[in-house]
Amino acid sequence: MNRWISNELLAAFDSEGTTAHRLFTSPSAWVERLGDDVLISHKTDAARDALCAGVQEWAQRANFAISRVFTRFLPRQNAERVSPVLAWGAPSLPLEMVVTERGVRYGIDFGAGYSAGLFIDQRANRAYVRARAPKRLLNTFSYTCSFSLVAALGGAQTVSVDLSKKSLDRGRANFALNGLSTDGHRFIADDVLDVLPRLVRRGDQFDAIILDPPTFSRGNKGRRWQVEEQIGTLLHAALELAAPGASVLISTNCTKLDRTALERTARFALKMVRRGGEFHYEAALPDFPAGEGARTLWLHLK
Ligand SMILES: C[S@@+](CC[C@H](N)C(=O)[O-])C[C@H]1O[C@@H](n2cnc3c(N)ncnc32)[C@H](O)[C@@H]1O
Repeated sequence: MNRWISNELLAAFDSEGTTAHRLFTSPSAWVERLGDDVLISHKTDAARDALCAGVQEWAQRANFAISRVFTRFLPRQNAERVSPVLAWGAPSLPLEMVVTERGVRYGIDFGAGYSAGLFIDQRANRAYVRARAPKRLLNTFSYTCSFSLVAALGGAQTVSVDLSKKSLDRGRANFALNGLSTDGHRFIADDVLDVLPRLVRRGDQFDAIILDPPTFSRGNKGRRWQVEEQIGTLLHAALELAAPGASVLISTNCTKLDRTALERTARFALKMVRRGGEFHYEAALPDFPAGEGARTLWLHLK
């Protein structure tokens, strides 16, 4: 905590083709690099002001040429979320740009709302999907389809499900950015809880399933989604779509769900569907202090 990443780690990211990563983390703020731009996410104005100065000092030490600095307030309530604000740099530059993660290209849009387009704390899980090269991937709560993209680059057929048509359109654009056709890939703009039973009725099966829901949202007909209460139901429904030997990612930002709670949920769901499975955890990210970022668990089914 309270440390900027080292010049060695910055060089390692550059040499692996990753331009989207954390630069700094503290209890009141964090800083991300997104290409040549920097995004400061802050809980207080004091933390923002200190980091606006701090990031310039870091850039000098690291010999890094910052193009722009954006800041974003981290509110307690989702309803208070707003787009990042340009704090430093040329207002004439486009708000849309491209970052890379291990050479894969992702569109970023600082004008698209609170989230700019890529959750960098899922980097290891995306690499894991790429390495496992599933043939059929179901990406629920898919946002801009980053998991679908890495699976498709490995030859998978993918199904991405998100309430937001705009996010799915950005997912399609991410395919195009990497020279991939979307033929044979499905993008379903609907509520995951309504889509899963439909896929079961169709007899669909998947080798990898991504469950990375928000902590809270409103689905079809204003239906309330609360991850602590519904993660078990979601996993149970997803297991019906998991082929033998499938891998299921369970991931959450909800601070009330720790690793033990995720394992308990997974064991219970396995018992309900009378299937066996093993847990796997990806290694911690070098730019995230312990305990920061999403809590995630891979479940490998027998
Ligand atoms: C935390 S983001 C998922 C991030 C994504 N897994 C990634 O790594 O890029 C949550 C997404 O869930 C979507 N969402 C929220 N409630 C939903 C629901 N009931 N059904 C489908 N999508 C939903 C939101 O539109 C948002 O794109």
